Amino acid sequence: MQTAAPFVPASASSIAELRDAAPACRGCELWEPATQVVFGRGDEHAKVIFVGEQPGDVEDQKGLPFVGPAGHLLRRAVDDAGLPVSDLYITNSVKHFRFERRGARRIHKTPDQQHITACHPWLVSEFAQLRPSLVVLLGATAAKAVLGPSFRVTRQRGQLMPWPASAQHPADFPSGHEAKALATIHPSAVLRADDREAAYNGLVADLRVAATALT
Ligand code: URA
Ligand code: SF4
Repeated sequence: MQTAAPFVPASASSIAELRDAAPACRGCELWEPATQVVFGRGDEHAKVIFVGEQPGDVEDQKGLPFVGPAGHLLRRAVDDAGLPVSDLYITNSVKHFRFERRGARRIHKTPDQQHITACHPWLVSEFAQLRPSLVVLLGATAAKAVLGPSFRVTRQRGQLMPWPASAQHPADFPSGHEAKALATIHPSAVLRADDREAAYNGLVADLRVAATALT
């Protein structure tokens, strides 16, 4: 089984320590064609953690998550929903960009379950450092990574759930720590939607529900 586990420093006491160790990860084959690892970023004391899928083309080049078009849309939606923009941390389920080459272009390729599983120890290590009150799962990959492969965002989006009680590997998460999780659509899906306005409003409505977990 492919896994990042041997590369995650077990005694890390900060996100910075984890970030420093991530470039050496060889937990799956995705590191090789990618430009660099893209670790999470944001407030180390954030109460809210957003989990996406994997870095996109822009993120792979800049080494930072959600700095492309999906990231801009996400920030606007977070603001419109009244979530505290300064008090959040953003990361991905899989930390290297998976793509297919078509000539000079690199086309995004959805990570497989094996990549989600391999990269999971990094996500767990971020949860353990941050101990967030609220985990927002953006799209199917993030929801499956945290809530299990049978979770369906289309049917179960916009609901605040106890976390980690509903998590796939409750033992992986900070013990005795209680929080809420909510799954919603991925900002990239909003950008691709036929009716972008409706899709955007749906995302903001879900994030408003998420915001109630903080009051
Ligand atoms: N989409 C994601 O899921 N993550 C990013 O970092 C960028 C786009
Ligand atoms: Fe390691 Fe995750 Fe990158 Fe695979 S995708 S090499 S598990 S950091």
